Amino acid sequence: SADPAQDPSVPGRTFRTVGVIGLGTMGAGIVEVFARHGFDVIGVDVDTEGVDRGRQHLENSTGRAVSRGKLGEDEQAELLGRVRYATDIADLAGADLVVEAVVESLEVKKGIFRALEQVVAPGAVLATNTSSLSVTEISTANAHPGRVIGIHFFNPAPVQGLVEVVRTVVTEPAVLEDVTGLVRSLGKNPVVCGDKAGFIANTLLFGYLNHAVSMFEQRYATREDIDAAMRFGCGYPMGPLALVDLIGLDTTYEILETMYRQGRDRLHAPTPILKQMVTAGMLGRKSGRGFYTYEAPDSPRTV
Ligand code: NAI
Repeated sequence: SADPAQDPSVPGRTFRTVGVIGLGTMGAGIVEVFARHGFDVIGVDVDTEGVDRGRQHLENSTGRAVSRGKLGEDEQAELLGRVRYATDIADLAGADLVVEAVVESLEVKKGIFRALEQVVAPGAVLATNTSSLSVTEISTANAHPGRVIGIHFFNPAPVQGLVEVVRTVVTEPAVLEDVTGLVRSLGKNPVVCGDKAGFIANTLLFGYLNHAVSMFEQRYATREDIDAAMRFGCGYPMGPLALVDLIGLDTTYEILETMYRQGRDRLHAPTPILKQMVTAGMLGRKSGRGFYTYEAPDSPRTV
């Protein structure tokens, strides 16, 4: 048939109703992005508690936009009215696109992509927001892997301008074309890449951060000078060591480890001192100490 709703290989879908599964940090932000651009959204989380958290997140975030004068109060009400909530993915039956943003677990994600087969139309696009898992592997759980694609938003989704669109070796070109068009219509800049942990931005960013940590470890330069060089020499808003403190040394280590395991690029072999600092409880800002020390009266000093 020549109906994109029934056949993933047919281009020219009209995306009207979007399902978002998982209403945590990313999912709630993704709901906001679509609702702001006039889509009907169905947000799904495991239980009413999860749904309430997501709803609250959306109300707070749009409330801040109102108080900053970026969104009218009536616009906010309209936006919130475009979002429905559910705890059962069976309620996504009418979705033209589903964006999965649940916990970073291959088993949980595969279970969802398997179950979606029975829920949505055969041509509906199924997307994952995964940062480090294989989109290809997730796609094999669905009977139509050609309609599966990665749509990788950045945190916070309503603010960040980049969306990485990840195609697998079996993603239908029509699906890729329709999704990049959709991302553009959200006011974001889509970039397209293959299915490798880290995609474009994190592969480059974390290789750079790892190199900065390595310079620090070798006592090649002080933390202040490493950071100052990139801020004042390259115009980066923040130096690499301060950025690792912000991301968290534990998270940085995990991301590097995942990319190194999958890509075997030495650029991503975690610098040893990173693991040592994590073991010692120096996690960065959240623990009060990383490469720098932070005043954190509300969180106990661990080191
Ligand atoms: P999170 O932990 O804040 O949210 C996950 C949500 O999924 C929770 O609300 C949880 O209740 C829900 N959930 C878990 N299992 C579920 C299920 N079976 N059905 C429905 N909902 C379920 O996680 P976060 O940070 O939002 O990450 C979500 C995804 O986005 C992950 O794949 C992560 O790799 C990716 N990602 C995260 C970024 C970040 O900066 N946090 C950036 C870009 C992508």
